[in-house]
Amino acid sequence: MPAIVWSSEFELGLDPMDDTHREFVDLVNRVTEFNDGQIGDGLDQLIEHTIEHFAQEDRWMRESGFPPTHCHQSEHDRVLEVMRDVRGHVARGDLALGRNLIKELPAWFENHAATMDAALAWYVSTTGYRATAGSGTAAADAKTGCGSGTAASCGCAGAVEPASCG
Ligand SMILES: [Fe+2]
Ligand SMILES: [Fe+2]
Repeated sequence: MPAIVWSSEFELGLDPMDDTHREFVDLVNRVTEFNDGQIGDGLDQLIEHTIEHFAQEDRWMRESGFPPTHCHQSEHDRVLEVMRDVRGHVARGDLALGRNLIKELPAWFENHAATMDAALAWYVSTTGYRATAGSGTAAADAKTGCGSGTAASCGCAGAVEPASCG
């Protein structure tokens, strides 16, 4: 039984987003089967996917003028920070922490897709903005991690401010 079973509930009506989410689900399912010697490599693959996955959504948020951009982007930044932190622990021999993170990803994804990503897909569909695949060249320039607003003030349930935002 795969860690995440793809279902129509994950289809949010934005083709490049749905394609990326399918890739994420496939990757998590593959990495879940990795043995101890492959965990570090699995996390590297997950981080590589997630950088592009999040940068693509961050670009759509900026370009479409999505109102709770800060909130959603902060959540992306926080998750990537956790992944990189855990990767460091795995490199130092703490494989259990790596396994734990991989085990937590399905529940995180189901919640994130159903809330923040669903809101973005809905907003994009109502504005007529054309969301194309790819992170774009400008993806890195606005990734400060901390903007002028706060997660608490932007009305996104479940958002967590990165620790670095104080
Ligand atoms: Fe997503
Ligand atoms: Fe997202």
